[in-house]
Amino acid sequence: MKRSRELKPLSSEHHQALLVAFQMRKGLEGHPEAAGAPRDLPGLVSLARRFEGQIFSPHAAAEEALLSEHLAGPDRLRLAAEHFELKGLVEHARNSAPGEQRVALAAFADLLERHVRWEERELFPYAEAHLDAEALAVIGGELERLLVLAGQGPRARR
Ligand SMILES: [Fe+2]
Repeated sequence: MKRSRELKPLSSEHHQALLVAFQMRKGLEGHPEAAGAPRDLPGLVSLARRFEGQIFSPHAAAEEALLSEHLAGPDRLRLAAEHFELKGLVEHARNSAPGEQRVALAAFADLLERHVRWEERELFPYAEAHLDAEALAVIGGELERLLVLAGQGPRARR
């Protein structure tokens, strides 16, 4: 899908999110081809926590801070509610018994994938169609600062 240059930092993290969702699902199935994912439960919980702390949290905060004001009411609510739910599932996976951990991680992977596809297919096209060039440029500059440059510092990506 064609994506405006300004929103690319978010889209490239969406690719990472889809990979994590894929790894999580394969890992939970004990699949031999898990794309480098751990297959044991503690390893999968760590993967979810690392993704949440290093990528998802700053990503979600940036979307809410920069995009929310430009969205229609229901979309703004959905954006925040799904971010909140995703964080809650990671938290739940961290704090529960193994059976529950599996359920929480599977729900996390499913919602993460649905959430990213919704943003890419509906939310971002809407934002791109409704933002003028100036507003988009401001958002692009802030994303560069919050995600791209910050990512080169202490929370550097793999
Ligand atoms: Fe996103």
